Amino acid sequence: MLRKALKQFQLGVKSPRQAARVLASEAKMRAGIRTLRSLELAVTWICNLDCEFCYAEDLMKAQQKPPHMPVDEVARVTREAHELGLIHVNVTGGEPMVRKDIYDVVDAIPKDVVVSLVTNSTLLTEEKIDRLKEAGLSTIQMSYGSYYLKSFKRDLARYCVEKGISVTLSVVNIESERENIQNAFAMAEEDDFSVLFNYPMIYNNVGLDSEYYWKMRYHPRCREDNLFWSGKDRCPAGTHKLYVTNDGDVMTCDRIHAIYGNVHEEPLSVIHKRMYDQFIKHKSFCLLETCDKQWEENNKRSGRNYSKELVGTNHDPFNVFEGTKLMEGTVPGSTLAQQMHKARAAAANRPENQPAPASR
Ligand SMILES: C[S@@+](CC[C@H](N)C(=O)[O-])C[C@H]1O[C@@H](n2cnc3c(N)ncnc32)[C@H](O)[C@@H]1O
Ligand code: SF4
Repeated sequence: MLRKALKQFQLGVKSPRQAARVLASEAKMRAGIRTLRSLELAVTWICNLDCEFCYAEDLMKAQQKPPHMPVDEVARVTREAHELGLIHVNVTGGEPMVRKDIYDVVDAIPKDVVVSLVTNSTLLTEEKIDRLKEAGLSTIQMSYGSYYLKSFKRDLARYCVEKGISVTLSVVNIESERENIQNAFAMAEEDDFSVLFNYPMIYNNVGLDSEYYWKMRYHPRCREDNLFWSGKDRCPAGTHKLYVTNDGDVMTCDRIHAIYGNVHEEPLSVIHKRMYDQFIKHKSFCLLETCDKQWEENNKRSGRNYSKELVGTNHDPFNVFEGTKLMEGTVPGSTLAQQMHKARAAAANRPENQPAPASR
């Protein structure tokens, strides 16, 4: 575990100021003091691909005119998060590289924070990598797997490492991807990358490839889904990590679209406290899990005893909290979010304001 923590620290942190902030945050979290460590920012819902498994599909397709999150909003939200302890921002989407001003987006984030950006790699070039580095990018997360085999370019990944940007190959842990994930680990060893395990959201996907996931999870080059230095078997979503959409809606996680507030209506500190107080009581290996058997197995493999009360439901693939007590404290969200709910309700053939069927 120590080897893994050191490797992740070495790959993620690029300056003494970032290192100091990460270590202070780790101490605070371990002391049980409320702190926000990681923010995922969906800076756009525009994407140039249409992967059939994509968890962002409901958000992308519900918005007729999906806006980018303005650069000054990125600056404001990350400044607010910085005051709450922020050590890491993941810039995501949609496809963040469709934005011509993506360098300004990265540059707007405080410099003592580790910044990563996740991309399908289709639009990457050496020149763009140079500009991302200049803007302050620490890590590039290149998605890898059957959908990305055409767009992934190993030469460009190596170029990033040469330029001082760490490379993480972002994979989805399902059985049909196992061979690709094995290849990702082989490349990681050869070229000094890491591999990020995405716990699968069961939408046009099958469940977790449990055997391989648990075999590789503690490998030093395996980055955990969310925060890569905590080495904890506890999902940080809702407590130490939040997800903010292009329109300011705040969720626990990119793959669970239940909304707990909006940064245009309340300070992030207020939303974070409300969510933290609710989610700190709910221990889970991964809030995405919807299968009792897998939940038990995760408990067994991690040596935890997390309550099965929290296993998610399958009522709404984009929101496993639907029908559970974790829906307490949710709000309708922005206009765009309401469009999304309307589209989802129509797809499920139920009235818009009626929740999904009662819980487990
Ligand atoms: C939604 S994408 C956004 C960034 C960019 N467009 C890309 O594909 O890399 C972020 C990451 O989520 C992963 N992802 C998408 N759908 C998923 C799902 N259903 N379960 C787990 N991970 C998923 C993708 O493979 C990608 O690595
Ligand atoms: S490239 Fe990324 S955002 Fe676009 S459809 Fe695929 S997974 Fe979704």
